[in-house]
Amino acid sequence: MHTFILAVATTLLLRPSNAITPPPSFTPGVKWQIEIQNTISTKAPLKPTDALVWDIDLYHAVRNPSVIPYIRSTIPGATIICYLNAGLAQTSDCDYPLWRGSPSLGKPYSPEFPDEYWIDIRNDTAVAQIKSRITLASEIGCDGVDPDNIDGYGDDDPTGFSLSAPDYIAFIRSLAAHAHTLTTTRGHTLLIGQKNGPDLTPSIAPFLDFAVLEDCKGLTGGDNFCSIFAEHYINKGKPVFSIEYPSSLGAGCPGEGITKDEFGRVCTEDYSRFSTVLKKRGGSGELDGCTQYCGEGVGKGVVVTAVDIEADGDECKL
Ligand SMILES: *[C@@H]1O[C@H](CO)[C@@H](O)[C@H](O)[C@H]1NC(C)=O
Repeated sequence: MHTFILAVATTLLLRPSNAITPPPSFTPGVKWQIEIQNTISTKAPLKPTDALVWDIDLYHAVRNPSVIPYIRSTIPGATIICYLNAGLAQTSDCDYPLWRGSPSLGKPYSPEFPDEYWIDIRNDTAVAQIKSRITLASEIGCDGVDPDNIDGYGDDDPTGFSLSAPDYIAFIRSLAAHAHTLTTTRGHTLLIGQKNGPDLTPSIAPFLDFAVLEDCKGLTGGDNFCSIFAEHYINKGKPVFSIEYPSSLGAGCPGEGITKDEFGRVCTEDYSRFSTVLKKRGGSGELDGCTQYCGEGVGKGVVVTAVDIEADGDECKL
């Protein structure tokens, strides 16, 4: 009897706090697609059909409830990650009426995106509203959430609230704890990932399930921060979904994709266990349906996922 109790207690103690069971294909290197700029078309054939993880915008899926069933009917084993803005509220968000005029909204994200405002993520009411976005994701059939903009700290005080890295770590910890209490419509624990924010990785990776990165190879001039994610995610069996923005894709999509020269620099083997998509660089092209995959070689692997731009503005069906 005592031995049994001891065994149970030991199992509970040794189990990592996020001992969740992701869908079976959710492993490092799984092929993925991200299309958060526009609504995925349910009228055209879905491509690529061998992508087993799809990252789509939460509110596109809320506005168009047929999108998630459409992905699942085409790709039965697909894991659907829903992108949501965790650190900002934007005027087009379905829950914006809750935010309008709130003192928990700070500076606009940037002059380029004047309709997005940083949130004071120390405010309990604001955090509860972000958790409601995560709950909504679990209810409409998402398997996980990709919470963006978790790094509004720094000397330049981007938010206007003088938030610190520890403020964001506490925030993400609280979001992850919430996500892990939720069960998806497919019966799994809701997954939650890290979006960018390399400096936060050692603190938050232990309680997150995957990562989504932009430009970790530094192609657009920043630092290379891929290796920290290899260490804290891939080496723990958690997938890393990486987006690179090579300069030559714009001209080649649809078509043959990036130049041979750039392929040599972008599609290197050093992070081959990352799940990588190549997307157009800059402006409104960035996260549209045009994608190239490295795996098939130079001049190959270009796919355009069909979108329905008009559906982006459909009424929120909450
Ligand atoms: C916290 O946020 C809520 C909702 O946005 C707002 O009503 C409240 O005034 C905020 N509190 C502070 C101290 O900013």
